[in-house]
Amino acid sequence: MKISIACDHGGFALKDAVKQTLKEHGCDIVDLGVDSEKTSVDYPDFAAKALAMLKKGECDRCILLCGTGIGMSICANRVSGVRGALCTEPFVAKMSRLHNDSNCLIMGARVIGAGIAREIVHIWLTTEFEGGRHKGRLEKIEDLSSKI
Ligand code: RB5
Repeated sequence: MKISIACDHGGFALKDAVKQTLKEHGCDIVDLGVDSEKTSVDYPDFAAKALAMLKKGECDRCILLCGTGIGMSICANRVSGVRGALCTEPFVAKMSRLHNDSNCLIMGARVIGAGIAREIVHIWLTTEFEGGRHKGRLEKIEDLSSKI
């Protein structure tokens, strides 16, 4: 699976742990920065890089990291076709795959530590979408942008 990953300075603390877990699962990783937590950057600039790749089909899924996960989550769910899941523990990550077919995982490095983040990534990578009744609901989500 090809996964792009992007973060701001607030999310940088989780990046290495997340990349390590992706490597353990044999993922092809595209790291879109940032490369240090020392400089303050604007998270939408980094979200945009990963979300553009996802939208164009240049990666299968993406992972976004910031301080709380909130800013990156707002960015992700502005883009049609992106189903961003802000996860703080493994159960939510699992359900986001089973019911929501999440294709973008978001976590906050000021909220959770590396151990939980690694568990979340593991569950998110290994859980398949259930389909069925959930498929129509996802179609209704896509319809929202043209209806409202
Ligand atoms: C950066 O200070 C912080 O605002 C950002 O990482 C994120 O938490 C925004 O939602």
